[in-house]
Amino acid sequence: MRHLIDFGDLTREEWDELYHRASRIMDVPAQFTDACHGKIAANLFYEPSTRTNFSFQTAMMRLGGNFFGFSDPNSSSVSKGESLKDTIKMVSGYSDVVVLRTPWEGSAKAASLYSHVPVINAGDGGHMHPTQTMADLTTITRLRGGVDGLTFGLCGDLKNGRTVHSLIKALAKFRDVKFILISPEELALPEYMRAFLTENGMPFVEVTSMEEYIPQLDVLYMTRVQQERFADPADYERLRGVYVLTRKKLTSAKPDMLVLHPLPRVDEITVDVDDDPRAAYFQQARFGMFARMALLADLAHQPRFEQIDAVEIGTKPVCSNPRCITQTDRYLPPLVKKNAGKDYCAFCDAQLR
Ligand code: NCD
Repeated sequence: MRHLIDFGDLTREEWDELYHRASRIMDVPAQFTDACHGKIAANLFYEPSTRTNFSFQTAMMRLGGNFFGFSDPNSSSVSKGESLKDTIKMVSGYSDVVVLRTPWEGSAKAASLYSHVPVINAGDGGHMHPTQTMADLTTITRLRGGVDGLTFGLCGDLKNGRTVHSLIKALAKFRDVKFILISPEELALPEYMRAFLTENGMPFVEVTSMEEYIPQLDVLYMTRVQQERFADPADYERLRGVYVLTRKKLTSAKPDMLVLHPLPRVDEITVDVDDDPRAAYFQQARFGMFARMALLADLAHQPRFEQIDAVEIGTKPVCSNPRCITQTDRYLPPLVKKNAGKDYCAFCDAQLR
């Protein structure tokens, strides 16, 4: 693994190794206090964050390393119009690993073309968020003993929720996992994710009722309707609050079902659920820090990439997704990936038309 852009960058063996390291960190933290001694992370957050930013910061501190960066791009030269390419060239000259969150889909992939150090995708628009998935899988494995054979209910904004996309990518590496995708039609999974499920032979059904399906689930993964991704605020107002998990609705759930949520929660889980033993979302956030420690302890030690291959300069984007990084950063190469005879943007995964 050179970068972590998409969970598909990891083999199952690499994930197992990361999980075992995260577990060891939890069980014997004293062995890891110097694991990143002398290493520096650049944490570039172009979008708001609480858990991801703080857990990356505390992860580095607990490993004996350091970090710098911004959580408001207006405090950096980004506000003077600096491109992502130039920012990445600079910060990868100062650091050993770059942690990047932006609203632009495909931005982590774009950054990886120009970085001298590993890039970790900490969320690229509504596309992917692989380190949240590391938190999710760590939680499920620690609390349920494993992931194989489980039925997952993914509920809420499956269109814009990047955590859901990354989780599905990861679950392709496990056996006999089934999905019940619970969303209004307007917030259903994007086409490229549905194609991914089909190609990987992962059984799924798309439904609109949460209550009806709760009894079948081993994991109920709730998500927030992603307000910031809506072009029209009226659409958000109409769709928010569409699913609300309450303590009462949990009475029909299996006694060992896990309720997960990447957080922040808005109104999709009532506070009375917090005290139910099945509610694991606060633990999930803490496990995320240990999972990120395991990742940093590996990537921060990679040898620096002194030579970066020249990249073809693009002139106009091949992708028409208005949220794709190629729409704003016009120098990017027109990279296309093929899948089952169809063309997809290699940055944001949108199907090319
Ligand atoms: C998620 C995100 O940023 O995608 N939060 C997180 O990283 N834990 C989920 C969300 O914002 O709804």
